[in-house]
Amino acid sequence: MDQELLRYESINNTLSGDLEFKSEKLTFNNNQLDLIEGTIPSFIVNNLDELTKDMSNFYNEVKFPNYDDFDDYASLYDKGMSNLFTQRLDRELNYASKVLELGCGTGQLSLFLARGNRQVYGVDISNGSLLVGEKFRRDNKVSNAYFMKMDVFDLKFKQNTFDFTISNGVLHHTKDARKAFKHLVDVTKPGGLIAIGLYHKYGRFFTRVKQALAKIIGKNIFILDRTSLKIKSNDKRNAWVTDQFMNPHETLHTPSETMRWFEEEGVEFLNLIPHCDDIDIPIFKRRQKPSLSKINEILMMFNRKQIQEGGFFVIIGRKKK
Ligand SMILES: C[S@@+](CC[C@H](N)C(=O)[O-])C[C@H]1O[C@@H](n2cnc3c(N)ncnc32)[C@H](O)[C@@H]1O
Repeated sequence: MDQELLRYESINNTLSGDLEFKSEKLTFNNNQLDLIEGTIPSFIVNNLDELTKDMSNFYNEVKFPNYDDFDDYASLYDKGMSNLFTQRLDRELNYASKVLELGCGTGQLSLFLARGNRQVYGVDISNGSLLVGEKFRRDNKVSNAYFMKMDVFDLKFKQNTFDFTISNGVLHHTKDARKAFKHLVDVTKPGGLIAIGLYHKYGRFFTRVKQALAKIIGKNIFILDRTSLKIKSNDKRNAWVTDQFMNPHETLHTPSETMRWFEEEGVEFLNLIPHCDDIDIPIFKRRQKPSLSKINEILMMFNRKQIQEGGFFVIIGRKKK
């Protein structure tokens, strides 16, 4: 019997249906689940739509963000701690929290947050990326993280379940970022925290220029990209270059647009990075809503950090009780 699969029975109360492990098989509502390479349950029951299928295939090849060649749990932990955002998440999230990472890719953040006693669910539609994460999880004996194949538009979790829901760099690769956001809010507990990271409509201007160039010079575009040049591992650099400059689908958003989404879905605004950029104080502490004029947002085009990070912002809130 695969004890690793048996573990999934213990998350039954988080799922919206009945999960059972019988005769070496996992069933969900009495339907047998496919297992990716015998290890990761897939909750995809209907055919994926064309766009989601394209993204699934793309990230099957491009395993993002991927690990450095020498990574083990200690180095994963060190990296998590050396990044101010993930360090703050770890410091501020209760140890017993139930966490959903939607679009976990190769699972680094899920595994990092699994420290302590958090129960972490890493969900993605890419077999290739999930397998990389699951291998790392097994090799490093992390027993409280669960990788699953699920589509954000068909989540199999109970409503009002998670203490913290995070989706970093994902919603803009889906067919409808706004709708996907609603699905995330639905599964977050009232009073629970939610963070989404999206491409910035203006901050991504220079990346769009590089994308146009990449159509001519292909992956050699890395020569013109500082961030790529800093990445030592070939696999990691390849993942970054392909993800940033050759992605089949991305949409662009503004912080003021997402602040409206928050209002419409009953999510209280807490923080916006960049803009309320005082990362040294708690990230889940409520800030004053920045007043974002159009010109203010357009100026992000010339923000050095935005250019290096590919034009990205993270907005954080709390679902109202
Ligand atoms: C750019 S990667 C981000 C990975 C990770 N969150 C990070 O910050 O490095 C985007 C991920 O979103 C996943 N994704 C795209 N569409 C999805 C969907 N409809 N449901 C679930 N995951 C999806 C992709 O498979 C991919 O792994």
